[in-house]
Amino acid sequence: MSLLSVLSLCVEYQSARGTVRAVDDVSFDLDAGETLGLVGESGCGKSTLGKAIMRLVPSCDGLAILDGQNLTEMPDRALKAARRKIQMIFQDPYSSLNPRHDVGTIVGQPLSVAGWSRRDIRDRVAELLGQVGLPAEAARRYPHEFSGGQRQRIGIARALALGPKVIICDEPVSALDVSVRAQVINLLEDLQQATGVSYLFISHDLSVVEHISDRLIVMYLGRIVESGRSEEIWQQPAHPYTHALLAAAPVADPRLRGRTRSLLQGELPSPLNPPPGCSFNTRCPMARERCRQERPVLRSVAGGRMVACHYDLLEQPAALPPAMSVAS
Ligand SMILES: Nc1ncnc2c1ncn2[C@@H]1O[C@H](COP(=O)(O)OP(=O)(O)OP(=O)(O)O)[C@@H](O)[C@H]1O
Ligand SMILES: [Mg+2]
Repeated sequence: MSLLSVLSLCVEYQSARGTVRAVDDVSFDLDAGETLGLVGESGCGKSTLGKAIMRLVPSCDGLAILDGQNLTEMPDRALKAARRKIQMIFQDPYSSLNPRHDVGTIVGQPLSVAGWSRRDIRDRVAELLGQVGLPAEAARRYPHEFSGGQRQRIGIARALALGPKVIICDEPVSALDVSVRAQVINLLEDLQQATGVSYLFISHDLSVVEHISDRLIVMYLGRIVESGRSEEIWQQPAHPYTHALLAAAPVADPRLRGRTRSLLQGELPSPLNPPPGCSFNTRCPMARERCRQERPVLRSVAGGRMVACHYDLLEQPAALPPAMSVAS
């Protein structure tokens, strides 16, 4: 059994303008020690999915099962205990750390909630700060005294405090300077090696997640459109949306330079009023009549890959119009 199983999870937000189904029938598994990347454009429901797993927002249907425990239906008391096993880190290390608390208090907060003694908290905080590459005396300083990358390290130390099995990383490097991003990503990889923690790693930038993920999930308007092994998706995307995201991703490898031009045409449709049929049909250069009428189901294709497309690119690579073909 997987460490974390998400089954047909749905989340809806109500607003004066109507109902947005931000997460629609999403299912996936995450194994111990694995990194699963979650990509898609802004507003496709990535953060909502992470928060719904954590029960920071309510889901309207589906399950999230962590280590055999159903998080979605758990009473609040049990949920508090289960949250030790699953933690979330956020994009903005500035707003997620209380500016009035010193770093020792911030990192030690989950331990103090769990009833640890002051002395044990102090020792554990020193150990955690060391693990994330900060000196022990950082405990006595305040968040504003640290750079963005260091603050994200503080957030990571706090997330690690109770030895979680899963960390949901919601765009953990997007707010950081490019020069600091690799350091934080390397740290997350080292911590995974040392602790065996699993990551659900959220990013709108495929080039960031591809590098660190074993497998990838691609979302569009609340739904999974493709999933599979990272390197296979990177080499040969099956969904035209994944293909367009890849084409838009900045790549260092000169052999892939032909991919640098953004091929996503048109605007993301309003999630209040998603198009009928395939939700990508309004922007897909391959869309045909069937795509405007019938929603494709997420189905298995070769090698554990899943794709929700009537005319996927593995089956029909020649169907790609010339403007979308990738120079390799
Ligand atoms: N609290 C809320 N109330 C109403 N609608 C919301 C709320 N939070 C998110 N939404 C809507 O739900 C959809 C998914 O939003 P979400 O923040 O999960 O996307 P995201 O993929 O994380 O985007 P980003 O890359 O910008 O972080 C969007 O249409 C968004 O406008
Ligand atoms: Mg988000």
